Amino acid sequence: MSKLLRNLIRKNLKISESDIDRKNRKERETMLNFVYHNPVKVVFGRGTIAKLANLVKMDQKIMMTYGGGSIRQNGVYNQVMDALKGHSVIEFSGIEPNPRYETCMKAVEKAKTEGVNFLLSVGGGSVLDATKFIAAAIRYEGEDPWDIFGKRMPITSAVPLGCVMTLPATGSEMNSIAVISRESTLEKLPFSSKHIFPQFSILDPEITFSLPRRQVTNGIVDTFVHVLEQYLTYNVNAPLQDRQAEAILLTLIEEAPKVLEDPKDYDVRANLVWCATHGLNGLIACGVPQDWATHMIGHELTALYGLDHGQSLAIVLPAVLQHQRKQKGLKLVQYAQHVWKIKGLDYDETIDAAITQTVEFFRSVGMPTRLSDYNITLSDCRTVAERFEQRGTKLGEHRAIGKQE
Ligand code: NZQ
Ligand code: ZN
Repeated sequence: MSKLLRNLIRKNLKISESDIDRKNRKERETMLNFVYHNPVKVVFGRGTIAKLANLVKMDQKIMMTYGGGSIRQNGVYNQVMDALKGHSVIEFSGIEPNPRYETCMKAVEKAKTEGVNFLLSVGGGSVLDATKFIAAAIRYEGEDPWDIFGKRMPITSAVPLGCVMTLPATGSEMNSIAVISRESTLEKLPFSSKHIFPQFSILDPEITFSLPRRQVTNGIVDTFVHVLEQYLTYNVNAPLQDRQAEAILLTLIEEAPKVLEDPKDYDVRANLVWCATHGLNGLIACGVPQDWATHMIGHELTALYGLDHGQSLAIVLPAVLQHQRKQKGLKLVQYAQHVWKIKGLDYDETIDAAITQTVEFFRSVGMPTRLSDYNITLSDCRTVAERFEQRGTKLGEHRAIGKQE
């Protein structure tokens, strides 16, 4: 810790933005090496489902995957079918939120039997993640496709896929990640491969009008936390990535109350959709350290207690930030000043205020932030800690969060 900062803290002086910038300039590490390649074609805007006709080739045998039926109620199903008139399409429905391995394997069976060579996901992150895994599992030559998660077996190819994304949250539409749950063992694990990038993603903000409020809230929180996982770590002299991350956070803070007030405001929906995509398309992660402890702990809460993904994050994030306030101190202060415009407090107060503002923001969009809001007790959570120990996993940007922490 620099002399400047030590003095500030000891004397309990109010810190200014320039003090932190000076400190950051002096003690920063350097930007990490990176390769950035994102091949997803984004087709954005009103009426864009019709463009499917040209995005999928006539000679492809398509399996359209979807969830529990929202697309039949909001007209998206008909729009897709109209666009694909003349194409060869079969369907696989019933993919559940937090998609299950067991369900995906049924889809793999069907796709193999029918000779499917293109997958079209029509739904939220769950349907798309399931579709990414199905695409990989169809071509997987090993014995047990669960090894892709459990043993991190690499995959060498996947059936090509595209998507119509109906829920802004996960960023799955522009990344190479899928998260799948296994019912038989109550596990929820991610995998990533360049082979599962969608070839295209259709993002029509109008089809998000029909989202229930709970999913709107989930999406705002998920996007917000994606950004913080990549921003609230330590400084590596990456001001562009920092400003890009702050831009997404500020936009979410501005747009969130508007969508709750008027769910049919196209412009607000459009901004939320684009924020979600940018939250996890790899751009703000370029060259910077990443945390993801909140997500990994949150996935366990979902696997064990059935919380929605967004709900789990809103509980875990504030606790992780409190616990890691020393390691993340300077970035927390930057976040406080640049995003929440907190001024005139001392170092510790500034960090406390940033965490409190985050909690208040989540609550303002109707998201609970305590385990007790779901009647889960701390002793229930021992299982979570033990699982990380069993897997030998250490979390966080310093790989320092384990069972004890
Ligand atoms: O199943 P249907 O009937 O389609 O209903 C869904 C579902 O019940 C409904 N819905 C979706 N779009 C709708 C709609 N209802 C009305 N109108 C629409 N336009 O919303 C419910 C939730 O859908 P889901 O796909 O589960 O939500 P979300 O997009 O938030 O996805 C969550 C999953 O993604 C994973 C999560 O862990 C979770 O399993 N994540 C994936 C990531 C990735 N691939 O990069 C990263 C994330 O951090 C996250 O872990
Ligand atoms: Zn997430």
